[in-house]
Amino acid sequence: MSVTVRVPAKVNVQLAVGAARPDGFHDLANVFLAVGLYDEVTVTEADELRVTCSGPYADQVPLDRTNLAARAALALAERHGRTPAVHVHIAKDIPVAGGMAGGSADGAGALLACDALWGTHASREELLDICAELGSDVPFSLVGGAALGTGRGEKLTALEVGGTFHWVFATAGRGLSTPAVFREFDRLTDGVRVPEPVASQDLLDALAKGDATALAATVSNDLQPAALSLFPELAQTLAEGRAAGALTGLVSGSGPTTAFLAPDPESAERIAQALPASGTCRSARVAHSPAPGATVL
Ligand code: C5P
Repeated sequence: MSVTVRVPAKVNVQLAVGAARPDGFHDLANVFLAVGLYDEVTVTEADELRVTCSGPYADQVPLDRTNLAARAALALAERHGRTPAVHVHIAKDIPVAGGMAGGSADGAGALLACDALWGTHASREELLDICAELGSDVPFSLVGGAALGTGRGEKLTALEVGGTFHWVFATAGRGLSTPAVFREFDRLTDGVRVPEPVASQDLLDALAKGDATALAATVSNDLQPAALSLFPELAQTLAEGRAAGALTGLVSGSGPTTAFLAPDPESAERIAQALPASGTCRSARVAHSPAPGATVL
């Protein structure tokens, strides 16, 4: 028997970052929006825990126990006194190390899939607890839609979205490590008073209205200067996307994927063609939001 779960990628339309905490994490006001780019995680009974991966980025995915999908299966098995004897296969379509929560999506997907395969019937609360242990973005991958993440990003409040937003995501030729980007944020803000992170009411209103122009005027990412400092070529990608008709462009999460908000689906297609042709990114994809969270197929 096997179970397949489909899980979306995310973009952060606001990522407000506070000062480093004693535990090294940063308090965030993180407005997550799930986008319709998906990984599919299939779990099948097996003799022992094993992870495989297919798709365009498969060679960049670790298949050992650092993989969040493997850690999810181990965590659920441990809590329910089972052996984690499953083959986890990830059909990967979310860019790897791209700031789109691809690893988190695989963690949430494997958790939900193992829960269904094993009939553990974990409550939503327990699943969210395990997700938060796995990583700051993993709870959002489970719930999808749109949400404000506070704390280190794991405490979620669902948000209303009043329409469909059309995005283009440009992938880069190499990845960026999230801890390295946060360390660069710390370096750049050394000696500066970092304000408490708060969600922008104008941004939440724009989301609730489904107003792309208003959303474009209010998006922000406090990690963007750090990502650009480590990966200066991204500034050219951002300029190209705007020149091709995007309402705005920003680094997605810790990057290096860049996200462009388009006024309509046709413009999104045009921007997605123009960006790779400009030679400033590896590839570009259109995706729409919001998208549902992890779903058993
Ligand atoms: O929680 P997660 O494992 O996804 O975080 C990866 C890394 O990103 C952390 O080890 C930390 O360096 C950084 N991080 C942070 N503050 C957050 C979330 C992540 O500093 N709120």
